[in-house]
Amino acid sequence: MKALLESLKPGDTDLELAQSLDPDRLPRHVAIIMDGNGRWAKKRNLPRIAGHKAGVGSVRTTVEVCAQLGIEALTLYAFSAENWKRPRTEVDMLWRLLRFYLRKELSDLDRNGIRLQALGRIDALPERVRDELAYVQEATSGNGGLRLNLAINYSGRAEIVDAVNAAIDRVRLEGNLGSLRIDEETISANLYSPALPDPDLLIRTSGEMRISNFLLWEIAYAELFVTETLWPDFNRTELLTALVDYQRRDRRFGGLSAGEPETFTPDDEIDAEEIVVSSQ
Ligand code: FPP
Repeated sequence: MKALLESLKPGDTDLELAQSLDPDRLPRHVAIIMDGNGRWAKKRNLPRIAGHKAGVGSVRTTVEVCAQLGIEALTLYAFSAENWKRPRTEVDMLWRLLRFYLRKELSDLDRNGIRLQALGRIDALPERVRDELAYVQEATSGNGGLRLNLAINYSGRAEIVDAVNAAIDRVRLEGNLGSLRIDEETISANLYSPALPDPDLLIRTSGEMRISNFLLWEIAYAELFVTETLWPDFNRTELLTALVDYQRRDRRFGGLSAGEPETFTPDDEIDAEEIVVSSQ
């Protein structure tokens, strides 16, 4: 948080937003569905890939601001398992962009203590992308700052299936298959990145009200923030606005607000006449 405040000059419009944040109540983990690159390009009569290129700028800014704020983890939906349905030229260009980003950003990521990890079925990616990812993951593996997760060839359902199969494989190896029981802990412990806290805040750009198979298990209690802004236009102001909005939420996790008084007494009876059943 201090790093962000120090980077803002007096009069900077983001200074007020940053100052209104409570540093003790920042989300530990922010996840983002980066959507709207195609529409951004279309509005400018540009090819879709121009939108993806512009989107890389928003990735940079978001990573930088999250690191400056001291947020623990940022997970970006870079390529879904369903994105293979796009034209081959677009998919190839996305791989080229990702490799370009990894190569260009490695020194900055490393200098800022950021640790990069890819989440998804990485084995299915082109070899050169896998190699580049492996290199950056290895080079940043000792860093203790922001955990930057790139969800690539990612599907939330596939992640749960993979977690269950990983649990089965483990007990089979141990020869205990007969005693296997799957519970929530088993699944959490076998996700692609089990050590991460669940996302507290899920941001989606470009206004669509969908989860799109993203982190289905992990977002059980995430706060959702949907902005109409297209991903290439998502900037520091937008991110700080989402964080301010998040801090206004009353997170109850299925319980009551902290300090809300008990209004039932143990003797309260259910009176059938009090319950009005509408027939319409
Ligand atoms: C969704 O926009 C965006 C994607 C499928 C790709 C996201 C990729 C980047 C931001 C660039 C590369 C990523 C990294 C991490 C360097 P869309 O094409 O679905 O937009 P539309 O809904 O307007 O068509």
